[in-house]
Amino acid sequence: MILTYYGHSCFLVEIGGKRILFDPFIRPNPLAASVDLKSIKADYILVTHGHLDHTADLIELANQTNAVVISNFEIIEWVKKQGITNTHAMNIGGHWIFDFGKIKCVNAVHSSSLPDGTYGGNPMGFLIETDQINFYYAGDTALHLDMKLIGDFKKMHYAFLPIGNNYTMGIDNAVIASDFVKCDKIIGMHYDTVDEIKIDSKEAKQKFEHHGKELFLLSVGETREI
Ligand code: NI
Ligand code: MN
Repeated sequence: MILTYYGHSCFLVEIGGKRILFDPFIRPNPLAASVDLKSIKADYILVTHGHLDHTADLIELANQTNAVVISNFEIIEWVKKQGITNTHAMNIGGHWIFDFGKIKCVNAVHSSSLPDGTYGGNPMGFLIETDQINFYYAGDTALHLDMKLIGDFKKMHYAFLPIGNNYTMGIDNAVIASDFVKCDKIIGMHYDTVDEIKIDSKEAKQKFEHHGKELFLLSVGETREI
């Protein structure tokens, strides 16, 4: 799988010839000023919840790419009102098979409203299962016990976890979350974008190392094959 980081929680994952974009937030992010939004291509755009730092560029990129937008029912209803027709609504506990593999929606402990104040349903995380690799994209969440179910469902080769604290779990709880999902390779997200979520990246990596795990922190704009 080829991974590109666009800052905050926004990643592009290329797998089996398909491009999946997560939680598009680029233009308002000063740390992502170098990213050329117009060059982004995607087949699917997955949205965990409605907050601006996960949806700011959603409508523009949905129009630009004609990707299928996948999110919870309430967010998809809002997306359709913005004129986007290529959508697939899901909700927590459900899965659907797409051409690249399976998406299962799982619980996230957070909140969800759209930038205009519209109710955004319940926040979610995604389990992605493909022929090549399985991974968990947690979205914004606290540590919670339901994560133990994920470790029992399926082997997750990677876990994308928020580590910035304040709005989501921080590093110490993310280490416990990685134990719950039985995953040793963690991709950090939702950190450094604003003062409240700044981390000490060296310390963060050490904390995962002490538990026999590896924390990957990509630079904004970086593409890496994992
Ligand atoms: Ni949020
Ligand atoms: Mn957020």
